[in-house]
Amino acid sequence: METTAKETEQFSGIIRPLTEEDIPALRQISEYWLRDSGRVAYDEVEGDIATLRESLAENSPKHMFVAQTQDGQVVGMMGVAETPKDPLIPFTQTDKPCELIIAYVHQDFRGGQGVGTALINASLDLARSLDKKEILLESGPRHTHSGYPFYDKQPGFKRVGVIKDFYGKGAHTIVWRKTF
Ligand SMILES: CC(C)(COP(=O)(O)OP(=O)(O)OC[C@H]1O[C@@H](n2cnc3c(N)ncnc32)[C@H](O)[C@@H]1OP(=O)(O)O)[C@@H](O)C(=O)NCCC(=O)NCCS
Repeated sequence: METTAKETEQFSGIIRPLTEEDIPALRQISEYWLRDSGRVAYDEVEGDIATLRESLAENSPKHMFVAQTQDGQVVGMMGVAETPKDPLIPFTQTDKPCELIIAYVHQDFRGGQGVGTALINASLDLARSLDKKEILLESGPRHTHSGYPFYDKQPGFKRVGVIKDFYGKGAHTIVWRKTF
């Protein structure tokens, strides 16, 4: 019998909205991924934590999901901002865009275990329920190997541009877009 390519596992935990209690675990995940030559980029970590907290406010235009394993461990986060950040606006195609934000999965649970897929599907469902017509995201050079292949594999996501020097001189960010 012919062998077929391995399919992404389906995440067996749950995807649910962020709560304040999740933040310490998510800070650790952020600190793991936001490093340059081993040094944690604390300003970026704090920026992400501030966004997580902002999303908890009533009527916030930012919405965050977390992935939780069956035994209760919080292993990932991803969310949607109802309005893309300004530098993304030139890449929009409709009058109802949104942005995919803060996509990180714990190092022991990523790369084919289905956590990121479950989180992005929840985020896309939310975007559609908000009557959005497209979703954009940007990802900097730090994530070239750890993140870009994931976005390139997502159905309907296309690389639509580069924002030069977005993360500092020579540190360009790539823009992806999916229209619904
Ligand atoms: C990007 C990320 C959120 C994706 O989540 P994930 O849990 O790894 O995603 P999944 O397990 O659902 O993977 C879906 C598919 O993408 C593939 N994939 C995910 N990351 C990959 C990588 N770095 N290189 C190659 N393939 C990758 C998986 O192997 C799987 O492929 P398959 O369908 O052929 O099995 C996660 O890998 C991550 O946190 N990466 C490090 C931080 C990062 O770069 N974040 C992006 C910041 S913008």
